[in-house]
Amino acid sequence: MAEVVRHIGLSLGADICWPLCFEAIMKRLDLRIPSPDGSGDTLRFEVERVTIEPYDLRQDCKYDLVVDRLTHWYHTSREWIKKSILMNDLYVFNNPWSVQANEKHTTYCAMMHLGMPIPETWMIPPKSYEPGNPDLRPTLARYAKLFDIGKVGDEIGWPMFMKPYDGGGWRGVIKVDDVKSAWKAYEDSGKSVMHVQAAVKDFDRFVRCIGFGPQTHCVLYDPDAPLHDRYTTKTDFISKAEEEHLRKLTLTINSFFEWEFNSCEALRKDGVWYPIDFANPCPDSQVTSLHWHFPWLVKSYVRWSVFCAATKRKMRKNQDWAPFYEVAKLDLSFEEKLDRYAAIADARYETARFEEFCAKHLGHLDEVVDAFFASDEAKDAVRQKVTALFPIHEVEKFTELFWGRIQDWRATQKAA
Ligand SMILES: Nc1ncnc2c1ncn2[C@@H]1O[C@H](COP(=O)(O)OP(=O)(O)OP(=O)(O)O)[C@@H](O)[C@H]1O
Ligand SMILES: [Mg+2]
Repeated sequence: MAEVVRHIGLSLGADICWPLCFEAIMKRLDLRIPSPDGSGDTLRFEVERVTIEPYDLRQDCKYDLVVDRLTHWYHTSREWIKKSILMNDLYVFNNPWSVQANEKHTTYCAMMHLGMPIPETWMIPPKSYEPGNPDLRPTLARYAKLFDIGKVGDEIGWPMFMKPYDGGGWRGVIKVDDVKSAWKAYEDSGKSVMHVQAAVKDFDRFVRCIGFGPQTHCVLYDPDAPLHDRYTTKTDFISKAEEEHLRKLTLTINSFFEWEFNSCEALRKDGVWYPIDFANPCPDSQVTSLHWHFPWLVKSYVRWSVFCAATKRKMRKNQDWAPFYEVAKLDLSFEEKLDRYAAIADARYETARFEEFCAKHLGHLDEVVDAFFASDEAKDAVRQKVTALFPIHEVEKFTELFWGRIQDWRATQKAA
């Protein structure tokens, strides 16, 4: 009966706050879990940050699991991760092939096919191109049809949103109200391949549902507020049934694409939830945007990482869309189909086993997290993030603001 260490790697870029909190909480938890394989071994966990350096494609990988926050833009790490999955049976979230291949456009198409009420969306060819490709001129001269964006707008209905088909981070997103502003936005879009999408007008709720493995958390979102107030701290803004509906939407999307953390934005109008943006497979994890919700997120990182590493959960390397398509074919209402999609998701995320695992081995997590978020160490993590983002004269003010919201969250947890 040995002590076996599970190595958790953090593949990080500019993230500051959640890794500091994750590392500190893992240290405080000081887990010793009987190995679920029945060997009698005791599992311990070590967390380390993954470094960037030359590597041999045949070299070993010391990690059992890597939490990856770089794949979508830093390719050396992405390729190291791919080699480690293929060669060393590494478990990573998110699946790098899926992150690389499935842009917003693919997610719209797939979820339209599954029956989700995605607003009417068109793709339009780009305004301009990278010069130098000798095939460009003949290709466009032969095949590119002139089009009138005004007519596309008339088909879709005004106003509409013009946004990159592979969007993220609000880059190049613009609301256009009429033909003139649509042409202007198109002229300005340059080399980006754009979508135009019908605006969901007069929505009465905007919710971001964060999904982490089988864990979900709905936040009332205010897109017009300054960045630090967009994730509101409101509670009770939707019914239990709606929360459950958003959970199912989110888990369906995430499990379809083999993403283990992602967030789904949905707008409610006349009682219908319209998902508008759900290709965020490296979702915002910063205390400076999440504040009140930040401890939930850190706990979710801890629970899912420990569960996956302890159980040696097998990573799903290949996307498997067929079971969802089988359900989509059935003569059922969307709600009935959604139940079945969510059941596939719950099976893939092993929801029941996960909950049982957490109850058995992470029963003290809430207490540890509460104590941690009362500590100077936690406040310093907040301050470090604020210092990286805010001008020096605002550091104290915003550190206190976010810290205060975390303390409010602690009070709410205690009252619950
Ligand atoms: N169809 C729509 N109806 C109403 N509002 C929309 C629609 N599409 C986009 N928006 C608004 O524009 C914002 C940015 O659009 P979207 O989320 O698709 O882009 P993004 O670049 O992925 O943004 P982010 O990464 O910040 O989530 C949304 O948060 C929402 O406020
Ligand atoms: Mg968005």
